[in-house]
Amino acid sequence: MSILRIALLSLIILSVMFSAAFAIKHMPEERGKTLFNDPKFAGGTKACNECHPNGRGLEKAADKKEFNIMGKTQKSLEEAVNFCIVNANKGKTIGVKSKQMKDIVAYIKSLKGKVPAAEKPMK
Ligand code: HEC
Repeated sequence: MSILRIALLSLIILSVMFSAAFAIKHMPEERGKTLFNDPKFAGGTKACNECHPNGRGLEKAADKKEFNIMGKTQKSLEEAVNFCIVNANKGKTIGVKSKQMKDIVAYIKSLKGKVPAAEKPMK
């Protein structure tokens, strides 16, 4: 194989690796996680992560039809997210169909089935 071919081949391999890393970083749940950990998300003053460390307590949220947060009922996951944005983060509601909402929901869905750290059985 000529030097040129080897160089070209390495270039192709490198670019495939980079674009794969780029794609993973830009998956909806990754973007949602970034928002989840951002105290300024939706104009708030607190990150979701402060009360739900690593998403704790939201592992079952993806399958729920009704939520009850701070004595109030929410009829959808989006409504629950907005409820926490306003009442916990002190921010402003985001559109139910907005990209940010889709990303946050994707992150919450990615938590499904994860065992909360505090509830893991001791060995
Ligand atoms: C000040 C603390 C606090 C902050 C900050 C907070 N939450 Fe919550 N959240 C709660 C409490 C309390 C509940 C109700 C009790 C529970 O289910 O854990 C709750 C419940 C939820 C639920 C429903 C869980 C279920 O399965 O019923 C979702 C979804 C949720 N929060 C999302 C978020 C998101 C998204 C953010 C950031 C925008 C956020 N929360 C920020 C305190 C907070």
